[in-house]
Amino acid sequence: MYQIYPRSFLDSDGDGVGDLRGITRRLGYLREIGVDVLWLSPIYPSPMADFGYDVSCYTDVHPLFGTLEDFDVLVNEAHRLGLKVVLDFVPNHSSDEHPWFVESRSSRDNLKRDWYVWRDAAPGGGPPNNWESYFGGPAWEKDVNTGQYYLHLFHKKQPDLNWRNPQTREAMFDVMRFWFERGVDGFRVDVLAALMKDEAFRDNPPDPGWREGDPPFLRQQRLYTEDRPEIHELVREMRAVANEYDERVLIGELYLPLDRLVTYYGEQLDGVHLPFNFGLVLLKEWKAGAVRRLVEEYEALLPENAWPNWVLGNHDNPRIENRIGRARARLAQMLLLTLRGTPTCYYGDEIGMRDVEIPAHLTVDPVGKTAPGHSRDPERTPMQWDAGPNAGFSTGVPWLPVADDYAEANVEAQREDSRSRLALFKRLTELRRELQALSTGSYRSLDTSSESVFAYLRQHEEESLLVALNFGTSSQEVNLAKAGKKGELLCSTLMDREGDVDPERLALRPGEGVVVRLRD
Ligand code: GLC
Ligand code: MG
Repeated sequence: MYQIYPRSFLDSDGDGVGDLRGITRRLGYLREIGVDVLWLSPIYPSPMADFGYDVSCYTDVHPLFGTLEDFDVLVNEAHRLGLKVVLDFVPNHSSDEHPWFVESRSSRDNLKRDWYVWRDAAPGGGPPNNWESYFGGPAWEKDVNTGQYYLHLFHKKQPDLNWRNPQTREAMFDVMRFWFERGVDGFRVDVLAALMKDEAFRDNPPDPGWREGDPPFLRQQRLYTEDRPEIHELVREMRAVANEYDERVLIGELYLPLDRLVTYYGEQLDGVHLPFNFGLVLLKEWKAGAVRRLVEEYEALLPENAWPNWVLGNHDNPRIENRIGRARARLAQMLLLTLRGTPTCYYGDEIGMRDVEIPAHLTVDPVGKTAPGHSRDPERTPMQWDAGPNAGFSTGVPWLPVADDYAEANVEAQREDSRSRLALFKRLTELRRELQALSTGSYRSLDTSSESVFAYLRQHEEESLLVALNFGTSSQEVNLAKAGKKGELLCSTLMDREGDVDPERLALRPGEGVVVRLRD
């Protein structure tokens, strides 16, 4: 799966903002690099207080991105090429400019009042409880007109919908149906765990680990605003809506500890198909041992028959290149594409795009404005297609600046270079397609004599593949003869060798990872 941030992929009309026609033009590229599914961050009408995650109409396309017709063309063309299309569904909140909220706030007895979360002030005055917004500050906004507070777990222009109201539920399920009927293959569901809040509105405890300068969303333990027991019934209902259609997928955005995360598969696997596994996004220590522990913990926690998934980056986190550096980012790429389960790649990561430093006066992300240092603009910059003006992204002025290393870090240049990041990405997706052991085979960790090498086996029937990743800064030689006597190297992260290798004396250069086909 490949995540596209539509504002930044390709601008077809020169207004500086990427659009649907731009994406349609690049579907061939996605095929070329081995993508099966594209997920589009929100494309709906929106005042853009949170760049589309504040939706003012759930069943239309923002004119910046195009029209419903453009969308139909995109979906048809994608399907013709064998690609699936997943949309972002933003059910926790709408925009305050959504007609539902405009009605809801108009009076206390409006029929849509209860579609959002309204509360009286606390007994002594002030917000109803201590809940804080992920973006910083109280999660309650006083409405002067009606004297009550509405809840917004994000920006104050993103009022939370009340999912305890059956009418709201039905209206939102109809939104899903609208897009399913139009042919979309599934949804990535935004902040799924937050949809049900504590019915008694109890205060959240502060997080004792929080320090000045840490991101605002870590200040509180979200005990009463996230991952409440009632959520699972709602997720089952959502799944039932998806099940009204053939072959549709639901993916949940869930930043939870792994043992909580896996509960979203549902007790009868009747939850979301893929609760996003952000283990690699949150991993602090990129060392062989820590990565191995993460993979094993996740594998062990997965319910029987649950299909795993891995994510390396997205529009809310610094890019992998910046988190772990260029050399290890290649290892991470190999890891992502050789672990068991569906991998998700954030646009541009396949060419090693880096975060772009955005000066304060050009910062547009609401988080970046309230919490400088935690802005998400740096990872949302225009896709780098070629060495031409604006990296081939736009003929106008891009909404965010283009990276200044784009002359080398771009698709066209890397297509020509057999050792490029892009070449590595393509080789790995090609291997996934060719070798069943990689796509659906089993997973088993292997012990190695080196602390800096993480190795594992992927197997399907007679097919046995060894993956060995050297996270260290010196060369390592490991003996993996137990796994097989002969080996054929299919891919090195450095993209400069193939051919026979001896598993008994497998030599890995600093930061090198390999995929080896084993024979007895
Ligand atoms: C999710 C999105 C993020 C957005 C937030 C509010 O975390 O990924 O970009 O700001 O939800 O919708
Ligand atoms: Mg445009």
